[in-house]
Amino acid sequence: PAALKIAVIAGDGIGPEVVAEGLKVLHAAVAGEGTTVETTEFDLGANRWHATGETLPESELAAIRQHDVILLGAVGDPGVPSGVLERGLLLKLRFELDHYVNLRPARLYPGVATPLAPHVLEGKELDFVVVREGTEGPYVGNGGAIRVGTPHEIATEVSINTAFGVERVVRDAFTRAAARPRKKLTLVHKHNVLSNAGHLWRRTVEAVNAEFPDVTTDYLHVDAATIFMVTDPARFDVIVTDNLFGDIVTDLAAAIAGGIGLAASGNVNPDRTAPSMFEPVHGSAPDIAGQQKADPTATILSVAMLLEHVGLDKAAARVEQAVAADLAERQGADGRPRSTAEIGDAIAARITG
Ligand code: NAD
Ligand code: IPM
Ligand code: MN
Repeated sequence: PAALKIAVIAGDGIGPEVVAEGLKVLHAAVAGEGTTVETTEFDLGANRWHATGETLPESELAAIRQHDVILLGAVGDPGVPSGVLERGLLLKLRFELDHYVNLRPARLYPGVATPLAPHVLEGKELDFVVVREGTEGPYVGNGGAIRVGTPHEIATEVSINTAFGVERVVRDAFTRAAARPRKKLTLVHKHNVLSNAGHLWRRTVEAVNAEFPDVTTDYLHVDAATIFMVTDPARFDVIVTDNLFGDIVTDLAAAIAGGIGLAASGNVNPDRTAPSMFEPVHGSAPDIAGQQKADPTATILSVAMLLEHVGLDKAAARVEQAVAADLAERQGADGRPRSTAEIGDAIAARITG
């Protein structure tokens, strides 16, 4: 593209620190591509809520829609009631912009330490991607509470699974599996207990499989999936799962693939009816915010996904290669942990040369 318009929502906690490095690397990677990058910063998150009580006004959502893509840092703050920003800003963006594919790759880069026992990956590779449904499940807010605070309180959060919503994300996952060498798709659910939703997911996978005959499928209950993620994660190629299971297994996937500081994601609208949003899997990390202790690599790898999404494949590859080179040498560093900006500088410098 001649111009790339990016809506930037740095957000809370470590969000601004990691987004600064993401943008630094993005500018380095795009230089010479003949693409002008135009960023618009949106002041959304805890500060905005404290100042005005707003989380995501309609006018701002409309302005965000005018961009090609969104880069987001993190949302959530201990000084704001839990859920206000998460629901009112982050999930609102995912739902309103129809980010039905929440793409979360897990890959163990050479040189990166993993908590897995050494024999687990002997002769094998950890390289899979979770296609997490992004617009349904227990996240839709279909619940309520009565008799709150009494011994008779009843609280519900009903998981919504529509044939339309399940089918479109399953088809996307099959498409991704078909494009990968191993062509394997694992459905992760819990149909032994959550039978209504589980059987819809299972029937949908069976039906869509007919369109992708060269993709092999299997199934794991989510609890068993967490076992295999620790004992044999190389068995996974593409995982498709619902919104909540996907949230949980992708933090585990991040942990085995070198830590939450490396885990990237894309909230993708495959139909391109609205901008997709790229963000690290991690949150605002209040425990280390403002100290330049956060690892910006997850955001930088999210920038690579962003660049690929807009068709800047070479720029995306430059970012990924620079990250891989930086990761390969980390353990050999002098032992002093680098600051957030130092890591961003080092990765940008590898691109700029
Ligand atoms: P978290 O991911 O913010 O932090 C979990 C742990 O990981 C913390 O110890 C933190 O210091 C560490 N960590 C996270 N990112 C790191 C990085 N880049 N480098 C080094 N260490 C890192 O999860 P949490 O503590 O459960 O949530 C904190 C807040 O963030 C909450 O308000 C939560 O709702 C919100 N949250 C937002 C998002 C998002 O914006 N997408 C994702 C998860 C959590
Ligand atoms: C994530 C986060 C969010 C989620 C929260 C903050 C709403 O945990 O992006 O993984 O559950 O999707
Ligand atoms: Mn999460």
